[in-house]
Amino acid sequence: MSKDTVTITDNRSGHSVELPILSATQGPDAIDIGRFFRELGYFTYDPGFLSTASCNSALTYLDGGQGILQYRGYPIEQLAEHSNFLEVAYLMLYGELPRPRQLDEFNDIITHHSMLNEALKSFYHGFYHDAHPMAIMVGVVGSLSAFYHDSTDIGNERHREIAAHRLIAKMPSIAAACYKHSVGEPQVYPDNRLSYTGNLLNMMFSVPCEPYVINPIAEKALDLIFILHIDHEQNASTSTVRLAGSSGANPFACIASGIAALWGPAHGGANEAVLDMLENIGDSRNIPAFLARAKDKSDPFRLMGFGHRVYKNYDPRARIIRAMCHQVLEQLGDADDPAFELALRLEEIALQDDYFVERNLYPNVDFYSGVIYKALGIPRNMFTVMFAIARTVGWVAQWMEMIAETNQRIGRPRQLYVGPGQRDYVAIDER
Ligand code: SDX
Repeated sequence: MSKDTVTITDNRSGHSVELPILSATQGPDAIDIGRFFRELGYFTYDPGFLSTASCNSALTYLDGGQGILQYRGYPIEQLAEHSNFLEVAYLMLYGELPRPRQLDEFNDIITHHSMLNEALKSFYHGFYHDAHPMAIMVGVVGSLSAFYHDSTDIGNERHREIAAHRLIAKMPSIAAACYKHSVGEPQVYPDNRLSYTGNLLNMMFSVPCEPYVINPIAEKALDLIFILHIDHEQNASTSTVRLAGSSGANPFACIASGIAALWGPAHGGANEAVLDMLENIGDSRNIPAFLARAKDKSDPFRLMGFGHRVYKNYDPRARIIRAMCHQVLEQLGDADDPAFELALRLEEIALQDDYFVERNLYPNVDFYSGVIYKALGIPRNMFTVMFAIARTVGWVAQWMEMIAETNQRIGRPRQLYVGPGQRDYVAIDER
């Protein structure tokens, strides 16, 4: 019996199966259960995927117990301090930090893919003015699958690369156009002289009637927040993109499915829900009542921005954003923003409460990001759109990694059937 296997014995039948252990370069190894059903006749059951590795990946490593997050082995803290969003995007797509010429070329490619096909404008006009920007974004990104017939052979590595470049480049333009539609202002074209986040701010907030000056603090803060949101292992939206992509679907349609999954308040929609929650709490005197609701199993209320499926320690991204929050608010003149003070107080009280301590419920990346977006003048219904812009890099990198797998197969989970046993049809006049 090899030491790199586990043996599982079925006590009902006495049958055993020896399964190989797959070694990780960091973190837990995995048991390959591919033969489990064939040899023991059982499915494994893990509905929330708490103990299930759905794939192997070389992109992002996180350790929930230690509060560690690395992109391609580089600690998020170092990338946040020294890098920028497009450099990290290059790292995620190509596996290594770019040399100066490589970065210049990549920046140029992304810059020159940032315009949207003019036909898309009429698509926006099909949405009512009060459509949630995430609803518009899902539709518009999905509609890109109706374009670019020159590069949708996903078996062609170059086509995959072009699709990835187009998606990364166009998300700020799509996002800004969602915002402009919601406020009834004309869309603003990208300006190739501007940075990735400078362009986003200009496309969102400039108007034809007067010059718009990009605030460098806002430009830098957005770039940093985007780095922190780029990827996060096999979270709900990334797993959705992988499952959609495993069928060979159009890459733009796959990313649209990821945007849909991200929108949920338990996932990327939490940043918008945190600000709604802080507004509902209103004053720190009301915090105990809201904590009581969060602990009450009969109450669906959850403390938004707290808890995480993997992190049972402080989310390292929340720690970085929390520190930046203070600096941005001071520099943008929102230092006395009640939302930030309330967030700090809520965190302080929650982290002294046994319910949260016993369950390792710490602030996650969404707890503070909304406070900064608010300080940057970004409306609440655009918070998750911001998340989607950044996470598009992770989604396309994960999609490219999966499609390039030599033994890539369609994802097709099984189930534990708990429905009625076979029964015969009953004519309606006999029911
Ligand atoms: C993101 O997966 C990712 O990586 C996601 C993400 C990414 O970058 O892609 O990190 C981004 O989605 C961050 C999460 C944002 N969501 C929220 O802030 C919403 C509030 N959080 C909860 O909904 C919840 O914590 C989840 C959804 C994040 C995690 O859900 P789990 O894994 O089912 O929670 P758990 O099993 O760890 O909960 C353990 C206990 C349970 O109580 P008991 O049954 O043990 O009594 O803690 C409770 C939960 O009810 N609990 C909470 C809570 N989160 C968990 N109770 C009150 N408030 C909360 N926020």
